Amino acid sequence: MNYTYILKCADGTLYTGWTNDIGKRLAAHNSGRGAKYTKSRLPVSLFYLEEHLDRRTAMRREVLIKKMTRSEKMTLAETKKRILLVNACVRPASRTMELARELLKHLDGSVEEVDIEKEKILPLTNAQMEKRQAACDAGITDLPMMKYAWQFAEADEIVVAAPYWDLSFPAILKAYFEQITVSGVTFKNMGDGSYKKLCKAKKLYYVMTAGGPIYEPNMGFEYVKTLVFEFYGIKDITLFTAEMLDVDGMDVAAIMDAAKTKINSFFE
Ligand SMILES: Cc1cc2nc3c(=O)[nH]c(=O)nc-3n(C[C@H](O)[C@H](O)[C@H](O)COP(=O)(O)O)c2cc1C
Repeated sequence: MNYTYILKCADGTLYTGWTNDIGKRLAAHNSGRGAKYTKSRLPVSLFYLEEHLDRRTAMRREVLIKKMTRSEKMTLAETKKRILLVNACVRPASRTMELARELLKHLDGSVEEVDIEKEKILPLTNAQMEKRQAACDAGITDLPMMKYAWQFAEADEIVVAAPYWDLSFPAILKAYFEQITVSGVTFKNMGDGSYKKLCKAKKLYYVMTAGGPIYEPNMGFEYVKTLVFEFYGIKDITLFTAEMLDVDGMDVAAIMDAAKTKINSFFE
């Protein structure tokens, strides 16, 4: 992970930098080996942190933040957005994640990633379901098993990256939704067929790539769109796609470039 950070120095001034190891970098600053500016203003403390998936974005943010006035930096720290990347891409060399990363370059805030496969998020079992139901009935919503639901509920913007599998998405994404659809956290079942929408996010991006054509209805996307709208209350949903990637004779690089151009022009 790469970071853009702002330190508060002992004299109250702010210092901006980037690193790929925030713990080490902070220690280096405080031992006088970080930067000339901070060396004479010790100790320093971490004031603001952004996480970025790639180094270039972290460096670009450093340049942008350095140009800000002090009060703009203070506002930035106060209004830092939480961006949640839901990674349902099973292949390590995922093209879907490549597009998701392109998209993330345009989102301001700190990116938290939940890699569903790495975190071994599995379908809900009967035992989990009963435990969760009993807790929800008692008004308890802080069980460890609810951590993903809270992470989703508190995010400001959400990016879901999922390849087109068997005309929808990998089963791990369904398992993730089973784990985060927790009454009292992401939504509330009102008992009369209606749902109170409890998620903070107003915006969700769904990124997918497909080996062949994407058929209408786009079942994976339509499922996610309906769920996040009807249960969680996220109304603004944007889809980005790249298709025909596994078809013989197709120019895969050109298809990916066109998809990236679409993403980039969306934010212009
Ligand atoms: C298990 C599996 C199921 C797939 N099902 C479909 C499908 O139904 N339709 C399709 O067009 N491509 C299908 N594909 C191809 C993928 O959608 C395509 O290779 C995609 O770009 C993979 O994304 P990734 O590079 O992020 O892993 C499938 C691939 C796998 C591994």
